[in-house]
Amino acid sequence: MFLKTPLSEIINRETGEMATPDNVYERPLSAMADMYEDAEAVKAALDGGDPVIYKVYEKTVPQLAGELQWCMSVTLPGKIGREYYMTKGHFHEVRNTAEIYLCVRGQGYMLMETEEGETSAVEMRPDTAVYVPAAWAHRSINTGDEPLISFCVYPGDAGHDYGSIETAGFKKRIVEIDGRPTIIDNTVK
Ligand code: PA5
Ligand code: NI
Repeated sequence: MFLKTPLSEIINRETGEMATPDNVYERPLSAMADMYEDAEAVKAALDGGDPVIYKVYEKTVPQLAGELQWCMSVTLPGKIGREYYMTKGHFHEVRNTAEIYLCVRGQGYMLMETEEGETSAVEMRPDTAVYVPAAWAHRSINTGDEPLISFCVYPGDAGHDYGSIETAGFKKRIVEIDGRPTIIDNTVK
């Protein structure tokens, strides 16, 4: 696959859609219901129709260290209770693999943490890049009122390890307090 094409012909900055993706998937709330702090708000949202929280458009490349996997990640605007819509979040299976997110629309945060307990939250804004260093788990969180859309690139062999995040969550959460995104400790699990 050789690309010599303006980015505008490969991705739609308004919707995050990628031209001719090999794989497209959506995660509804039901796929990550126990990741939100407010169980009652989760139940109400599920009863209300199980909203789609985020979508991913991917190109498939060989799962080799020398290849680069790339995709579009689209986190929709919304909240479950006071907590903003977010991706599940993951470590890479191969820990020694980094990732670049180039935000093209929306606003939010990249929440990151290491297995040793360091945490970081980096703002995401259009036309800014966030570098996720190797061995940092990462989750994108949409704190705005339009889709948070990023172009992501990472090594082809990285893989996704959701295990510890599914079990223990991230150490921090981003919730709306007094109308503003606020980073708090995760005391739920
Ligand atoms: O590899 C990445 O970091 C992204 O492509 C994510 O997979 C995407 O944003 C969806 O998030 P998650 O894999 O945490 O469900
Ligand atoms: Ni990743």
